[in-house]
Amino acid sequence: MAAFKLAHLSDPHLPPLPKARLAELFGKRALGYLNWTRNRRRYYRREVLDAVVKDMQAQAPDHIAVTGDLVNLALEAEFQPAREWLASVGTPERVTAIPGNHDAYVRSTRHRFAQAIADYVAGDEASRDGGFPFVRRRGPLALIGLSSAVPTAPFMATGTLGRLQLERIEKILISLSTDEAFRVLLVHHPLHSDSRPKRLTDSGRLLALIKKHGVDLILHGHDHVQSTKWFDGPDGKIPSIGVPAASALARGRHPAAAYNVYAIERDGNAWRCEQTIRGIDNELHITEIGRTRLI
Ligand SMILES: [Fe+2]
Repeated sequence: MAAFKLAHLSDPHLPPLPKARLAELFGKRALGYLNWTRNRRRYYRREVLDAVVKDMQAQAPDHIAVTGDLVNLALEAEFQPAREWLASVGTPERVTAIPGNHDAYVRSTRHRFAQAIADYVAGDEASRDGGFPFVRRRGPLALIGLSSAVPTAPFMATGTLGRLQLERIEKILISLSTDEAFRVLLVHHPLHSDSRPKRLTDSGRLLALIKKHGVDLILHGHDHVQSTKWFDGPDGKIPSIGVPAASALARGRHPAAAYNVYAIERDGNAWRCEQTIRGIDNELHITEIGRTRLI
C-alpha cells in the first residue's frame, strides 16, 4: 500500500486584515493593529499563501493539518474569510485545523473561531461536544487536536491547555496504542520555548503525559521557523516539528513560508515516517529544501 501523505502548514495569518471598527481597537488589539499596519502586512502576503497552497495540493496529500493563527486580531470580520480560506484548502473530511493564540486574541471573541470552523475541529465521536481535545481517524492516523489558544495580556503570546484538557488528553492517549494508529498531536504552541512571553505555560504536564503514554509525531506552529526537537517517549524520542508562517516573506530571523509533507506507512511492526520540506523564495518559487527519514 502506498504511504499515507499528511501535509502540515501553519500560521497563515490571513491577509489582508479587514477594516476594524474603532470600537474594536482598544487594549491588546490596538497594539496588534499598529503592528499589522506598520509591519506585518508587508511580510504576510496572500500571494505567498496562495502559491504555497497550490504547490501543496499538487503533492496530492491525503490529509492536511493547519495548526492555528488563521486570523490576526480575532475581529468578527476575520472569521468568515478564514472559513472560506479553509474551504478552499479542502473539505472538513480532508482538512483538520486547531486554533492559535491570534484566533483567540481577545476575550470578547475567543470562542468565535472554533464556532466559525466547527466542522474542521470536530472529532469523529458521535458524542462530540465541540471541545478540545478531539480525535479524528484518517487512514492510519489518529489526529489529536489540542487548543492552547487563550486570550493574554498585551505583549504576551503564551498558550495554556488547562487541567480539563490535560485530563482528557491522558484518557485519549491511554486508549490509543501505536499498533493501531500513527498518533499525531496537533498543538499551536511548541512544547519547549526559550521565550517566556511565547511559551506554553503547562507544557511540563503535557510532556509528562507524552513521556508516559507516547505519540508518534508532534506538529506545531507559533514560532514561524522550521524546527525539529525531540522529546522523551516511552520507547525512545518523539519528533516535534514546527513550520514557518504559510504566508510569510523572509524577514530577519524568520524564513519565508514553507510546509511539510509526511509520508507515513507501516513497516513490519513499526512505523516509517519521512518528512519532505518545501519552501518558497521571495520570487514565489517553491522547491524541495529538505528530506529526512524521521522514524
Ligand atoms: Fe503565528
